[in-house]
Amino acid sequence: MAAAATRLISRLTLVTGGGSGIGRAVCQRFASEGASVVVADISEESANETLGSLQGDLRGQGHMAGVVDVSSKESITKLVTSIQTRYFQPPSVCVNAAGITRDDFLLNMTEEEFDKVIQVNLKGSFLVTQAVAQALVACGAPKGSIVTVGSIVGKVGNVGQANYAASKAGVEGLTRTAAKELSRFGIRCNCVLPGFISTPMTDKVPEKVITKMKSLVPMGRMGEPAEVADVCAFLASDDSRYITGASVEVTGGLFIG
Ligand SMILES: NC(=O)c1ccc[n+]([C@@H]2O[C@H](COP(=O)([O-])OP(=O)(O)OC[C@H]3O[C@@H](n4cnc5c(N)ncnc54)[C@H](O)[C@@H]3O)[C@@H](O)[C@H]2O)c1
Repeated sequence: MAAAATRLISRLTLVTGGGSGIGRAVCQRFASEGASVVVADISEESANETLGSLQGDLRGQGHMAGVVDVSSKESITKLVTSIQTRYFQPPSVCVNAAGITRDDFLLNMTEEEFDKVIQVNLKGSFLVTQAVAQALVACGAPKGSIVTVGSIVGKVGNVGQANYAASKAGVEGLTRTAAKELSRFGIRCNCVLPGFISTPMTDKVPEKVITKMKSLVPMGRMGEPAEVADVCAFLASDDSRYITGASVEVTGGLFIG
């Protein structure tokens, strides 16, 4: 990474899935750019671990960890209330990075496996986006950036991931619609579409599949969480002030056609 910019000084940012992988890297990148970061995750332990890794010596910075289940509206409401109680404002930057997989071939996939992935990845992104946008609009001076982590798989499909691919295609439609509706409040909404990134999620993938996937990536390697976080920081910052409703692929060229 190039020398840290300070584009996010005095920005309050919320990162779901902040306890691991891409979400953790986003928290670290945002903190290094001066943001105050709310690390939100279903795992309190992981969220606290990320919190402990954040740089916090820039002007006005104060981070916190919060437990949230993004598939529960009640849980999100509690989190947003606790953020407003602590900071007296809603987050103006939000990254939806919480996500899960429950892989199975379509012919075998259970209804439960399908529903669970949709609830966390798609409904969770909807609920968090809605709660943050509502809080921003209610505070009367809205200006914000909401970034949702989709996947290249949402565009091209992937064997064993009917549920996941559907959820990730869904977040792009959600994001484009949110972009259209929320532009008049100064809130931008964009997606990043990672390809194959080295995180605990992909640690579960069998070695022979990893080798095969790598051979398909023009850049010849998996991506690092920090490489996705760099794009999230750009989309969060005013450097992307005329970008909304976009999906940015971070894939090393995987599936460019
Ligand atoms: N790793 C990849 O190759 C890759 C590729 C494309 C997209 N993505 C997406 O990037 C995002 C982050 O994935 P990752 O690879 O860092 O995975 P990860 O498993 O390392 O991290 C996901 C985090 O989300 C949290 N989480 C799970 N369910 C939650 C819930 N209901 N509420 C709140 N938090 C919850 C987990 O506790 C975990 O900390 C996901 O949306 C994933 O679909 C990852």
